[in-house]
Amino acid sequence: MKKIVGKHVVIGAFSVLAGFAVTAHADVVGNAKAGQDKVAMCIGCHGIPDYRTAYPEVYHVPILGGQNAQYLMSALHAYKKGDRHFETMHAIVSSLTEQDIADIAAYYASQTAASKDNPNK
Ligand code: HEC
Repeated sequence: MKKIVGKHVVIGAFSVLAGFAVTAHADVVGNAKAGQDKVAMCIGCHGIPDYRTAYPEVYHVPILGGQNAQYLMSALHAYKKGDRHFETMHAIVSSLTEQDIADIAAYYASQTAASKDNPNK
């Protein structure tokens, strides 16, 4: 019984979050083509072959290509707002507009293993 109640609370919380995300960004539509020109500063970390930064520490850098656009957008918003903490990502995302975030998310979401290397590398 206790388990069932807990599940309903979680689903309720997600519905509220999802509703908020839709209203807050309803007017911004991502353009993958525009995004391609905006990821030059991301590739240095997210495009390296073994997905690890070398300095100052060895971080595992997440692969972005092929991720769901909504997931990428909410991750970027979380860094921007400070809900998710990672200093470099916060600094980078702070300089992006809502349109940049939508375009970048659309660009990465459209990538597959067969995609050509980004020419802006
Ligand atoms: C200096 C290196 C660096 C640069 C430049 C960089 N990132 Fe990141 N990024 C990281 C690291 C390291 C993480 C993982 C941080 C963590 O643990 O939260 C990360 C996390 C992310 C995540 C969350 C991924 C997930 O699976 O949760 C997204 C989305 C992201 N970066 C997008 C970008 C975009 C878009 C750009 C360019 C505008 C960019 N990053 C530039 C290092 C970088």
